[in-house]
Amino acid sequence: MTELTFDRHRRLRRTPTLRNMVKETKLSAEDFIYPVFVVEGSNIKKEVSSMPGVYQYSIDRIHEECDEIMALGIPSIMVFGIPDQKDAVGTMAYHDHGIVQKAIRHIKEQYPELIVIADTCLCEYTDHGHCGIIHDGDVENDESLKVLTKTAVSQAEAGADIIAPSNMMDGFVAAIRQGLDEAGFKDIPIMSYAVKYASAFYGPFREAAEGAPQFGDRKTYQMDPANRLEAFREAQSDVNEGADFLIVKPALSYLDIIRDVRNRFDLPVVAYNVSGEYAMIKAACRNGWLDEQTVVLEKLTSMKRAGADIIITYHAKDAVRWMNE
Ligand code: PBG
Repeated sequence: MTELTFDRHRRLRRTPTLRNMVKETKLSAEDFIYPVFVVEGSNIKKEVSSMPGVYQYSIDRIHEECDEIMALGIPSIMVFGIPDQKDAVGTMAYHDHGIVQKAIRHIKEQYPELIVIADTCLCEYTDHGHCGIIHDGDVENDESLKVLTKTAVSQAEAGADIIAPSNMMDGFVAAIRQGLDEAGFKDIPIMSYAVKYASAFYGPFREAAEGAPQFGDRKTYQMDPANRLEAFREAQSDVNEGADFLIVKPALSYLDIIRDVRNRFDLPVVAYNVSGEYAMIKAACRNGWLDEQTVVLEKLTSMKRAGADIIITYHAKDAVRWMNE
């Protein structure tokens, strides 16, 4: 009988120390951006029912969230505002005393070293819930750019360290870059939601941020989940227009796109692990069907392995706690 020859892959898996030594992808607290929801009012800490563990805070209690984030060593938050007034043109999105502007000012005063990223969109601020200005039943691109640019500039004036436009209008990076530069914010980077799909996984976020569209859907501006080449065109435009980071969103069903964007572009790639991806894991774990700790760390590791340099995730605080154990 001839002798069997084969490779012994199990040699490197023998002990935990050895496995750790050859681990190719490691998570750290610096990889994460934690989303924070801020509401008008006082003494509010309200859990989002479809996102257990995620809360809306009023500004007077936001320190509870920020203290925890700082203590864990998470360097950065993304702030979403929930205004108490909405109108057709999203006035409160760019108002100097808008909820996000007030929240950013407050947080930067108390926590100057925390990196505060502003999500630049109109859907939380418009009564119709779309991400731009409506004309004849659809979002009017170029009109919307003007309002979005004003919004970005007001967020920078409030002290935002990074502007993250999520509206998916054509030309939003060019318009916002020009607006920031003219207002004296040449050094404020743009973290573009370059590749954002029209995904059903945003459902719980729309409860958290109270920004569901009141008619129709977002398919005339967000991308078709079936498309890959279109993601390259979207990302290329944003690179040409001056983006400093590229976000791919959602993450879990789009790991192939994260890898493609990583391979084609040399900007930092950010994966947005969205609300629905968080909610489904939470639900399964509450039922005892999955083990939350291992499944979350596996999921975040897979995003980094796919090519993400940074991950926006509602799991950030738990993940860091588990990583430190
Ligand atoms: C605003 C915005 C959305 C999300 C982030 N910014 C909602 C949407 O586009 O419908 C979704 C985030 C999440 O689901 O976690 N446009």
